[in-house]
Amino acid sequence: MTNYQVKPNYGIDAPEVIRQFLLIGFISAIAGWFTPPLSIFGNTFSFIGSVLFTLGLLAIALGTSMIAYGIRGKFNIREQMLNIVNWKGDENVLDIGTGRGLLMIGAAKRLKTGKVIGIDIWNTEDLSGNTAGNTLINVELEGVKDKTELKNEDVRNMSFADNSFVVILSLLCLHNIDDKTEREVACREIARVLKPGGTAVISDYVNISEYAKVLAQVGLKVEKPKSYFFEAYSLIWMVVVTKER
Ligand SMILES: C[S@@+](CC[C@H](N)C(=O)[O-])C[C@H]1O[C@@H](n2cnc3c(N)ncnc32)[C@H](O)[C@@H]1O
Repeated sequence: MTNYQVKPNYGIDAPEVIRQFLLIGFISAIAGWFTPPLSIFGNTFSFIGSVLFTLGLLAIALGTSMIAYGIRGKFNIREQMLNIVNWKGDENVLDIGTGRGLLMIGAAKRLKTGKVIGIDIWNTEDLSGNTAGNTLINVELEGVKDKTELKNEDVRNMSFADNSFVVILSLLCLHNIDDKTEREVACREIARVLKPGGTAVISDYVNISEYAKVLAQVGLKVEKPKSYFFEAYSLIWMVVVTKER
């Protein structure tokens, strides 16, 4: 198949959620604006319209912040995550839930002889245009084919040997696992494949304390999670963990 794409495209996260926020937000704001004071059992409720209007504006703000994240914030977060690692250029790197390759490609650009493996199950609800084929187009356009490899793997059951990667990255992946016990399995898998002396940088918009707790329980050194709201234009937390030698 011929590729006519000329610029890399890393997609918009959770496009259906954004659509719902904007749609419900506009309906609620308009309904609120036009809702007159309501008289129920002789009492007049004048605040209902204001509540609807405010909730509508909140939903619109959330949807807009998610779009801003997709257009600009995610690139800021990628650089924040990559800047945490003290790169030598020969690292063996894993990007968990690589999607269209945002972190995998960013890491590859910091490598000389090292290699990045991006794993994913390419769930189409989590990211627009989320296919391995689209990720490969980005890899070609960014010129990092020789330093990257894609694998269709679930983070909960990775095929890699223990202590395989000196750097592990994961952005907005783990929250997609609905079950808490399964997220714990994923965190234990991350700890298993991280090499002694290695660093894992995990970012997500929820559950970050839960990941930190499990990773500490299995013996990793865990820094206090930090918020990156202003860099992401959206709710993003990051935790940095290291495995001692
Ligand atoms: C919101 S997207 C983020 C993609 C990429 N990290 C980025 O920031 O652009 C979440 C990604 O996690 C992947 N994912 C969800 N559950 C997964 C699992 N159990 N194992 C591996 N990947 C998973 C989805 O398919 C999706 O590509």
